[in-house]
Amino acid sequence: MPSDVPQNDVPEKESKLKEKRGEMIAVCSAKGGIGRTVLAVNLAVALSKNNIQVGIMDGDFQFGDVSLALDLHPTFTIKDVVEGLDTLDAFALAGYLIHHSSGVKVLAAPDRPEYADLVTHEVIHQVCDYMLAQHDYLIVDTGVGLQEKSLQLIEKADQVFMLTNLEMATIKNTKLMLETMELLGLKDKVQVIVNRSTMESVIQASDVSDILGEETLVYIPNQISTVSQSLNIGIPFVMNQGKTDVAKAVFKLAEQMISRREIAVFKPKAPSLLQSIFHKPKMI
Ligand SMILES: Nc1ncnc2c1ncn2[C@@H]1O[C@H](COP(=O)(O)OP(=O)(O)O)[C@@H](O)[C@H]1O
Ligand SMILES: [Mg+2]
Repeated sequence: MPSDVPQNDVPEKESKLKEKRGEMIAVCSAKGGIGRTVLAVNLAVALSKNNIQVGIMDGDFQFGDVSLALDLHPTFTIKDVVEGLDTLDAFALAGYLIHHSSGVKVLAAPDRPEYADLVTHEVIHQVCDYMLAQHDYLIVDTGVGLQEKSLQLIEKADQVFMLTNLEMATIKNTKLMLETMELLGLKDKVQVIVNRSTMESVIQASDVSDILGEETLVYIPNQISTVSQSLNIGIPFVMNQGKTDVAKAVFKLAEQMISRREIAVFKPKAPSLLQSIFHKPKMI
């Protein structure tokens, strides 16, 4: 080989292809049935309304239902990505994504739970990197709790949306999950979201902050008919029920995410002394 040919040409090209552009958001919860899928799909569609490239990865590899929530019939799932892993690059991965009418691109979960084991840590790592290279946001709907693969996704994410509600058992487990995040040094990137915050319960939405020791919470109201109808017909409520309170809450969250990101991208490189004293950056 001539000496002027760079020896590391291929890895360099490869790393350019994987150069990170997007922000990864992992949507998680300590218990199932709390609203991770509902939030993941509606948030993704709300973000995409702003001319932003959004990808969703269904990270509930056993029982993923992102496709169902978006009324998609996937021709490919992450199982096909695994089978083509040897030749995978950003362009190949794009071919496995399912296009939703909103513009959101979805990497579906395997269609049977027994295939979940095929999705190894290496697959998750590569797929997230390639999706982040091609999208401004990668929203990941994770499996329940802190099982191994969900934890990998949480560790890899830039921000973690941890959903809870006003039920005693959910709050108790959310607190345990938050404590574990603290032990793992992941707590700083967690934003707790109280879903169904207007539901009837002995615990009031206003108590959650004290119980969990979380200063800033995001609240999403309880709107059973809108949300369950949306899931049943596979049309995210932000698309056709934009005036409902639940949709407004999701749009507000999307706007906060966008403006925080704009501030992060455009902030001056060297803040003045006054700025650094008085301007403490805050997540959401
Ligand atoms: N804000 C909400 N208001 C009313 N019902 C909701 C809300 N969010 C979720 N739900 C309901 O909760 C159930 C579980 O939601 P889902 O997103 O499938 O949970 P997960 O993905 O955490 O298992 C669904 O039946 C859905 O209709
Ligand atoms: Mg789900």
